[in-house]
Amino acid sequence: MRILSGMQPTSHLHLGNYLGALRNWVKLQDEPGAECLYCVVDLHAITVPYDAGHLTDATREIAAAYIAGGIDPERSAVFAQSAVPGHSQLMWLLSTMAQLGKLERMTQFKDKAGKNRERAGLGLFAYPVLMAADILIYKATHVPVGEDQKQHLELARDLASTFNTRYGAEHFIQPEPFIQGEGARVMSLRDGSQKMSKSADSDMSRINLTDDADTIAKKIRKAKTDPEPLPAAADELDARPEAKNLVTIYAAMSDRTKADVLAEFAGRPFSEFKPALVDLCVERLAPITSRMNELLGDTAELDRILAKGADRARAIAGPVVRETMDIMGFWKG
Ligand code: TRP
Repeated sequence: MRILSGMQPTSHLHLGNYLGALRNWVKLQDEPGAECLYCVVDLHAITVPYDAGHLTDATREIAAAYIAGGIDPERSAVFAQSAVPGHSQLMWLLSTMAQLGKLERMTQFKDKAGKNRERAGLGLFAYPVLMAADILIYKATHVPVGEDQKQHLELARDLASTFNTRYGAEHFIQPEPFIQGEGARVMSLRDGSQKMSKSADSDMSRINLTDDADTIAKKIRKAKTDPEPLPAAADELDARPEAKNLVTIYAAMSDRTKADVLAEFAGRPFSEFKPALVDLCVERLAPITSRMNELLGDTAELDRILAKGADRARAIAGPVVRETMDIMGFWKG
């Protein structure tokens, strides 16, 4: 079992990234026989306008969040995508097999390109091919991703089988998606119908992993709710998205089921539930935030971790690129 996943260094990580993704990555490290690779996908981050002066720090910040959240860099490779040249190389090789029609149907491309498709960059269009390269280059067997990345993963599977068929080789492995976030789909604190997101306008809609205790308290206190007390049964939350979200967060942060949380809080108003949620979030996030700040305060150590992770990743990726080129008939140089 080889597990690979990645996040973009586009902005601060929030509670949704932690509960929906990072926490699962941490648990996967304990799968017997599993090798985990956790990448900061900086090459993907430049497919939209970005600040070159901030990219290195943004990459370090995501790496620090991985480690502070529980990824053990001794066991798992933590590295920057751009430090492994094979990602870009394999992307080019795979791009010759990726059909324009399929890429045009990618919903993320349609969303990000918006109305002005003529002006969208080739990198944004080819984003899913680079993602396929990220995965296939390690012959990853399992890829934990959110529901929104399922279509991209399908393309990676497709490219693996297209390659194998075209070249008559059992070379690439078809990666299995691990769809994550079903247990803890964290929504915006301002609108229970929207996912908690780093791109939402209001910072009050999300809890960042870098928020201090006062900020977390303020955001939860101001979180949108309804006037009813908490219900006794979890299915009564279905029509109350904001209430459901806060209970979901409470349950995820305390490793309990929603039913279990409701058994404790049924009939009680949000004026009592919210302070309990604040205490829980602060208690759980404080060690992560402080470890993150510690790592970010010592970039030399963080850079050593990233360099070691890149060495490990290159040791796998390099030979796979070479093997791919051999199968494709390139000069052996
Ligand atoms: N596209 C993914 C996202 O936005 C990030 C990503 C890039 C990724 N390459 C990957 C995730 C490879 C898993 C595996 O969430």
